Amino acid sequence: MTRLSLTDLIPSRLPLIQAPMAGAQGSALALAVCAAGGVGSLPAAMLSPEALQAELQVLRQQAQGPWNVNFFCHPAPTPDSAAEARWREALRPFYDEAGIDPAQVPAGAGRVPFSHAVADLVEPFAPPVVSFHFGLPAPELLARVKRWGSVVLSSATTVDEARWLQAHGADAVIAQGLEAGGHRGMFLTTELGTQLGTFALLPQVVAAVQVPVIAAGGIADAAGVRAAMALGASGVQVGTAFLCCPEASTSALHRGALMSEAARHTELTTLFSGRPARGIVNRLMRELGPLNPAAPAFPLATAAVAPLRAHFESLGRTDCTPLWSGQNTSGCRPVPAAEVLSGLASGLDGDALSPSAGSASA
Ligand SMILES: Cc1cc2nc3c(=O)[nH]c(=O)nc-3n(C[C@H](O)[C@H](O)[C@H](O)COP(=O)(O)O)c2cc1C
Repeated sequence: MTRLSLTDLIPSRLPLIQAPMAGAQGSALALAVCAAGGVGSLPAAMLSPEALQAELQVLRQQAQGPWNVNFFCHPAPTPDSAAEARWREALRPFYDEAGIDPAQVPAGAGRVPFSHAVADLVEPFAPPVVSFHFGLPAPELLARVKRWGSVVLSSATTVDEARWLQAHGADAVIAQGLEAGGHRGMFLTTELGTQLGTFALLPQVVAAVQVPVIAAGGIADAAGVRAAMALGASGVQVGTAFLCCPEASTSALHRGALMSEAARHTELTTLFSGRPARGIVNRLMRELGPLNPAAPAFPLATAAVAPLRAHFESLGRTDCTPLWSGQNTSGCRPVPAAEVLSGLASGLDGDALSPSAGSASA
């Protein structure tokens, strides 16, 4: 069976997707990428309903070409007061140093999973593409998304997850290698030993599924795109390389870290949310250990760290800031997103472009 090309499934000029990056960008980055011929993404996981609606309006009115909205679909956790108390105890030296009383720190989720209530808000906009992280929503909820016409993507971190996503209705699979910045999309396993680097995972996923496969993780330039396409990718999703673009909302402290020597050392950590995510090593990760078992279930770890993060950031320090980053920050430059995209696009040969695309030099 011939595999559908990504630009047949999602009719953008380039088979290049700007990764959704919650907390680091909104519609401005997505619009810039769409205008340059790629697929821009809006991360919705940390947006209030009002903010999501406003961003969807902007995208519907202004996007040139197809755009993507991204949701998390984790099981909502059951609050556990004993686990929360253990977590605050682990953080006590930081609270003491910051002069914060942990009893006054409100608990809370911070990230909400996709739901029928969110779908009610999104449906009138019928986004061209909807991508999910942590699997797929329940079958009737996914059926709703497909009924309103969105192309559905989700991340796989193992061959089993890729097969599962194809069997459960994903129109294309994002093969997310271990190098990737931000949260691991893993959902069938919590075992970190199962996680593969992009160029080990990608060809195995390509061999295992018939839907288009999008490579993600550690790809930051034309040579990386060329290598992914040579290994059978139908397209590429890039996150970290867009983080220092002026259209991103990445904080000055985060930008500084990404463009410093510190970015050479990233680790997977559960400290900022409860699920493993890749970020630049900072003081909290060093002192607690990046995978400290006291961190409660996703996304409940976030609330207790939030005031510590704010305290140290007010002093110009990143001691408790999640500095999400992939392993390859060589593409992080303060240049417009169109320039990053055109650099990536020069790794595509003519066959990978949509028939109406013309030259690869976006
Ligand atoms: C700052 C940051 C935030 C991220 N947030 C999300 C998110 O909200 N949803 C999602 O599906 N993926 C998220 N990711 C992961 C990306 O989808 C993608 O897998 C990753 O950026 C690819 O690797 P790279 O960063 O090396 O390019 C995030 C990545 C980064 C760097």
